[in-house]
Amino acid sequence: MLVLRGTIIALLSALASAEHRHAKKLTSEQIGTIGDATFDYVIVGGGTAGLTIAARLASVASVAVVEAGGYYEIDYGNASVVPLYSLTKIDVIDPSENFPHRPEIDWELTTVPQVNANKRVIHYAQGKTLGGSSALNTMSYVRSSAAAYQRWVGMVGDDSYKFDNLLPHFRKSVHLTPPNLEKRNAANATPQYDTSVYGNGGPLEVSWNNWVDPTITWLATAMQAIGMSINPKGWSAGDLNGGSWVPSTIDTALATRESAETSFLEYALANTSLQVYPHSTVTKILLNGTSARGVKVETNGTVYELSARKEVIISAGTFHSPQLLMISGIGPKATLDELGIPLVADLPGVGQNLRDPISIGTSHIVNTISGQSIVSNQVTEPKALRQYKEEAAGPYSSAAGWIAYERLTSELRSTLPQSTQEKLAALPVDSPELSFIAGASVLPNGTSQGAMSATICNTFSVGSVSIRSAKISDPPIIDLGWFSDPADADILVAGIKRLRQVWATEPAQNITLGAEVRPGADVGTDAEMLDYIRANAQQIWHPSSTCSMGKKGDRNAVVDSEARVFGVEKLRVMDFSIVPFSIPGHPQATVYMLAEKIADAIKRG
Ligand SMILES: Cc1cc2nc3c(=O)[nH]c(=O)nc-3n(C[C@H](O)[C@H](O)[C@H](O)COP(=O)(O)OP(=O)(O)OC[C@H]3O[C@@H](n4cnc5c(N)ncnc54)[C@H](O)[C@@H]3O)c2cc1C
Ligand SMILES: *[C@@H]1O[C@H](CO)[C@@H](O)[C@H](O)[C@H]1NC(C)=O
Ligand SMILES: *[C@@H]1O[C@H](CO)[C@@H](O)[C@H](O)[C@H]1NC(C)=O
Ligand SMILES: *[C@@H]1O[C@H](CO)[C@@H](O)[C@H](O)[C@H]1NC(C)=O
Ligand SMILES: *[C@@H]1O[C@H](CO)[C@@H](O)[C@H](O)[C@H]1NC(C)=O
Ligand SMILES: *[C@@H]1O[C@H](CO)[C@@H](O)[C@H](O)[C@H]1NC(C)=O
Ligand SMILES: *[C@@H]1O[C@H](CO)[C@@H](O)[C@H](O)[C@H]1NC(C)=O
Repeated sequence: MLVLRGTIIALLSALASAEHRHAKKLTSEQIGTIGDATFDYVIVGGGTAGLTIAARLASVASVAVVEAGGYYEIDYGNASVVPLYSLTKIDVIDPSENFPHRPEIDWELTTVPQVNANKRVIHYAQGKTLGGSSALNTMSYVRSSAAAYQRWVGMVGDDSYKFDNLLPHFRKSVHLTPPNLEKRNAANATPQYDTSVYGNGGPLEVSWNNWVDPTITWLATAMQAIGMSINPKGWSAGDLNGGSWVPSTIDTALATRESAETSFLEYALANTSLQVYPHSTVTKILLNGTSARGVKVETNGTVYELSARKEVIISAGTFHSPQLLMISGIGPKATLDELGIPLVADLPGVGQNLRDPISIGTSHIVNTISGQSIVSNQVTEPKALRQYKEEAAGPYSSAAGWIAYERLTSELRSTLPQSTQEKLAALPVDSPELSFIAGASVLPNGTSQGAMSATICNTFSVGSVSIRSAKISDPPIIDLGWFSDPADADILVAGIKRLRQVWATEPAQNITLGAEVRPGADVGTDAEMLDYIRANAQQIWHPSSTCSMGKKGDRNAVVDSEARVFGVEKLRVMDFSIVPFSIPGHPQATVYMLAEKIADAIKRG
């Protein structure tokens, strides 16, 4: 009896530890003491890039990281922990103006009306939490293409950005766990990938979901049937063509989200004396002449200064890094003059060159089940929950599934306006032009809906980030610039046409019921599709390039190829804002890599 009781308690505590593994706290030694202090490096933003570079620098120096949020596991429950919930329960990703307000984990940013997209105001979720947007994202881990990194080499004049030269930095961050084929239990969904390019024992767990959505399996087959054949190397080897089961930042042992917090922060807390200032906002960069000397911080109404002996590193993300620079006197002179902010460095590129890849969806009702239909059904949900809690498997363990990349077929290319064809022709020849993501959701009556979206891989439109005052508490003015270049909408029209070809294949026809739901039968001509796109296109949360890397003197250049801000000493920007153009693929793989690369450059001195 006693033995049995012991076993039950051990079992219960094993379950409890799996569930509460992430419900953690910083110890008093790990929390920075409120009040003036000095470190070698002060990092602004404990997000994807910030925690990665903080962890690497803390192994050789004293480092403080200041983050506006706390632990998302505490502030948002399991919504950002359970993989399926990244599609269903993370309610802040609602892009509409009536989005749910969750100030404890989201910055609640909204854009100015998008004049070329029916004057829509877009809510743009950004993580305000340890881990930043890696705590809200869909966990897809997709590097860009060798051609894109080659373009980057040309823009910054530095060969170290060639894909082959970046590979060691990519590998350093990642620990690859091979897919669990037994749990995936889907013979036609065995991931193919090149093991040699993946990981080198880094803190970031990358793997494939422990469950495959049956509806997505059909849609993947349909895409293959029309020429998007399986890419045997997967999405980390520099070739974005064809289709593949997408790897995720996921801890497959527990089937929980892997973020910068669960990876790099945990690693740093166990192995270094990194000091974390949670629930603390940096209100300004402090400068001595043109040299950064620290930051002004506010925690619960207390204002103090953190000084940096060596450097200040800004990792506040695509919208907040340019805001912080401008507030501190670094940016376009006209903007700073207008607001009476003393000019430290006239850098016209700060906040300019915003690139936001846009996406359009198509859907049909299907006769197959999906992860969401299983967990929304009271009969099948209990088993799914048991599978998740006891085996880290089943629908709850699974987020994104299948992604394909393609260059436009010559047939569709020829339907584009001449000016759009010319813009595409100027890109590297082996760059993908569209990406297609397969998904599935559930309708209120329990039926599954299959979805396939098309996303542009190269954003020609340009937006901007500006400021309305010198106060950090006034949100930045964000103009996504959607469709400021009409080529982007033309390419999405081709995307809808291509997806309709996919829906017309035999494997897709086999599962669809009735007519197309979105865009719908009444959207037929190019003009109707353009209208539909302006009214319905959405972000996929990959905004970049507001503090672009470039050559000194280039119009948009804010940082050099080692992320140092032009015209200011001891100051770097290190996050997705420094990527100089909209790179194909998904951001986070490149963000983790860049943070590793810049940390190495700093250590080399
Ligand atoms: C809904 C969603 C889905 C996505 N899906 C994917 C995906 O599947 N795959 C993928 O690769 N990418 C995806 N992305 C994009 C990816 O997550 C981001 O590009 C990446 O995380 C950005 O990293 P970052 O370091 O630039 O910024 P962030 O990770 O956002 O970090 C910025 C940090 O700075 C903090 N901060 C800002 N200002 C201040 C201040 N003044 N004081 C203190 N702290 C401050 C913020 O709170 C935040 O923690 C998605 C993003 C979202 C939002
Ligand atoms: C998430 O948390 C809620 C509320 O505590 C709980 O009801 C639900 O079962 C949890 N979901 C999973 C998959 O563990
Ligand atoms: C601390 O570092 C060691 C050695 O690199 C590593 O094995 C260990 O996993 C790290 N701890 C954590 C929690 O990451
Ligand atoms: C500012 O810079 C000058 C010249 O480098 C130096 O002498 C001075 O100590 C600095 N002041 C502060 C507050 O860092
Ligand atoms: C800020 O104040 C709240 C409530 O007064 C407290 O719970 C919290 O611990 C404080 N935060 C910090 C970082 O000191
Ligand atoms: C469920 O709802 C959709 C959309 O309203 C409808 O097309 C479909 O026929 C319904 N299915 C069932 C089984 O009622
Ligand atoms: C259509 O579906 C049935 C059963 O769902 C399957 O047996 C058949 O092979 C499918 N056809 C194609 C072309 O995939």
